[in-house]
Amino acid sequence: MKPYGWNLPVALQFGLGIAERAAQSLQGRRVVVVAYAGATGHECAARLSRELCDSLIDWIEVPNGLSTMALGRTLALRVWPALARDPQSVLLGLGGGSVMDVAKWLRFRPEDGDPKGLDLLLESSIQPVGWRKHELWLLPTTAGTGSEVTRWSTLWDTDTVPASKRSFDQPYAYADHAVVDPLLSLTCPQSVLLHSALDAFGHCLEVLWNRHRNPTSVMLAVDSARRIVRTLPEALRQPQDLRCRTDLSHAALQAGMAFSQTRTAIAHALSYSLTLDHDLAHGAAVAVWLPLAWRMAMGRSVEVDTSLQAVWGLPPLAGLDRMQGWFHDIGFDLSLGHLGVTDVRQRVQAALSHERGRNFEGAWVDG
Ligand SMILES: [Fe+2]
Repeated sequence: MKPYGWNLPVALQFGLGIAERAAQSLQGRRVVVVAYAGATGHECAARLSRELCDSLIDWIEVPNGLSTMALGRTLALRVWPALARDPQSVLLGLGGGSVMDVAKWLRFRPEDGDPKGLDLLLESSIQPVGWRKHELWLLPTTAGTGSEVTRWSTLWDTDTVPASKRSFDQPYAYADHAVVDPLLSLTCPQSVLLHSALDAFGHCLEVLWNRHRNPTSVMLAVDSARRIVRTLPEALRQPQDLRCRTDLSHAALQAGMAFSQTRTAIAHALSYSLTLDHDLAHGAAVAVWLPLAWRMAMGRSVEVDTSLQAVWGLPPLAGLDRMQGWFHDIGFDLSLGHLGVTDVRQRVQAALSHERGRNFEGAWVDG
């Protein structure tokens, strides 16, 4: 076994109802919440707000959509003055990947409060001088992104033509606390449930064929993938079933922990243009590439083949068939053909030289 390290400096809490307890533990502190607008009206969010009670400085709704730099700058104009009311105030991000990604950015506050400074933050490998770092708590409302345990945020720059994906990816960018309460995932509708689970499933596979994989990440990813495969069909039939939601939340957290150490690979590299060009949900844009990535990964390494086999309990080629059948069973019938993608080979070649694509242990296969 090759030597490896593991660094995940985020305090984790997981469990049904744990969000309320986390809010209780914040009583007496000053808290600014940025929350996905769709969650705000939900009973879970209302309970959270009640628990925070007098601690709450402001509850700021984030509209549904991509985490863009423009959104970050707009939110900064309200979040930063609220945080500035108490130097010890806490920022709490409640939502899916977009909200958490923006929160990871906004918990840093420059003295002058000028949102233009956010660009500087993207480039700084150390926390810039004169910026305050507020304590950050992340509470995911979806079971998928894993953003609560990673050190990076995806931020889309929509001021460029075409829009471009940028990352805030720094060693000092981890949240302080991740509070994963499956009750919060009840706030997300069926389509988000599906796409989030597909994203988490994609994170698992991207770990298994990742050049930076390690035994701990692989163990977490295989277990998470198997759990998603087993649970998602039932969760879609019974969206209010708390056992299913708990399983999926735990699987997504495990997948997040696994890929926090490896990062993603080719399916994510290939997904970004689909998200922009077709306005596809991130999980769908990743999942549509998984069968091809699987085919490119299998048969090249005993270690990768063994992991892929463990996902379905079948040899990799049969597992590929089973995965496509499973996609159909859960109502995910999207294909590259449906999207009008004809330049697959060119896209794959470009993706293989992409920062994420270079993590991929696999190569183009004809046929
Ligand atoms: Fe993802």
